[in-house]
Amino acid sequence: MMVEEFVHIPVLLNEAIEALRVQPGGRYIDCTVGEGGHAVAILEKSSPGGQLLGIDADPQAIDMARKRLLPYGKSALLVNDDFKNLEGICSSLDFHPVHGILFDLGLSSFQLSNRGRGFSFQLDAPLDMRFSPSLELTAATIVNTFPERELATIIERYGEEHRSRQIARSIIASRPLSTTLELAAVVERAVGIRGRIHPATRTFQALRIAVNQELDRLEEALKQAVNLLGIGGRLVIISFHSLEDRLVKEYLREESQDCLCPPKTPVCVCGHTATLRLITRKVITPSLDEIQANPRSRSAKMRVAERIEKLSAS
Ligand SMILES: C[S@@+](CC[C@H](N)C(=O)[O-])C[C@H]1O[C@@H](n2cnc3c(N)ncnc32)[C@H](O)[C@@H]1O
Repeated sequence: MMVEEFVHIPVLLNEAIEALRVQPGGRYIDCTVGEGGHAVAILEKSSPGGQLLGIDADPQAIDMARKRLLPYGKSALLVNDDFKNLEGICSSLDFHPVHGILFDLGLSSFQLSNRGRGFSFQLDAPLDMRFSPSLELTAATIVNTFPERELATIIERYGEEHRSRQIARSIIASRPLSTTLELAAVVERAVGIRGRIHPATRTFQALRIAVNQELDRLEEALKQAVNLLGIGGRLVIISFHSLEDRLVKEYLREESQDCLCPPKTPVCVCGHTATLRLITRKVITPSLDEIQANPRSRSAKMRVAERIEKLSAS
């Protein structure tokens, strides 16, 4: 495969590499290796002697990354798995502690533009939306079998869509739905065209998050990531919607505090001690130049924290 065939442009590339403080001989994990854009930059900057473990739930992404990272030989290890299994993967490969861990969340341009995957409301495809074919639940199952209330809750919670009930009602009335374009048309008929974004954007986001259990898996993986970082190691997370960013922000805030007891508790009873130091108090966002060159980057938000020595709770 020629390098020109890679369609995904890595977002906040220089900022992420700088935040990870990539150095020669360092050991890094890219939990969402995708087409390997960030991974190549990490391998270049960590040479000589650097090592990268790249993980992705999507076997097609792993194939692409494998071809792209071929020139780096044994410095690049690739694993097709879910990042919710991060600790298990690292322990079976004896890949810890590490100097930096990157999460570049969401889906790649390759996945979005791949007709068969069903992520885009602009390409006609079966309602799939799974990152991994090993997942059982597809968007079609949710759309065609979930009760109206549950469907509305998913669309409201994961799409932050105020008109979720209207949309759920229309979906139920139009069952069975088998393709992305059918679903997009149903949503458009239910809510009409208002504002700048396509009316189906939020519903598609909600279904994708539900199918891939994105928030639960991210939360699980973040907890494990902290344990894999050596002291001074960096955790860098790039998110693409507010639900993800809120989860990351809250997690980093908690992990950078010594006590999580309610404010008026006279003596700490939780025993929590900080494991991280916040490096970014404000999120890092792409420059106008980057957004112009790669409009997909416009919603990106990057947060960074550093592993610190955990003091004993006693
Ligand atoms: C934005 S892309 C990463 C692009 C990559 N940084 C690059 O430069 O090519 C996000 C990737 O994360 C993967 N992904 C999403 N959720 C995952 C999970 N729970 N476990 C493993 N991979 C996941 C997707 O399959 C996708 O390939």
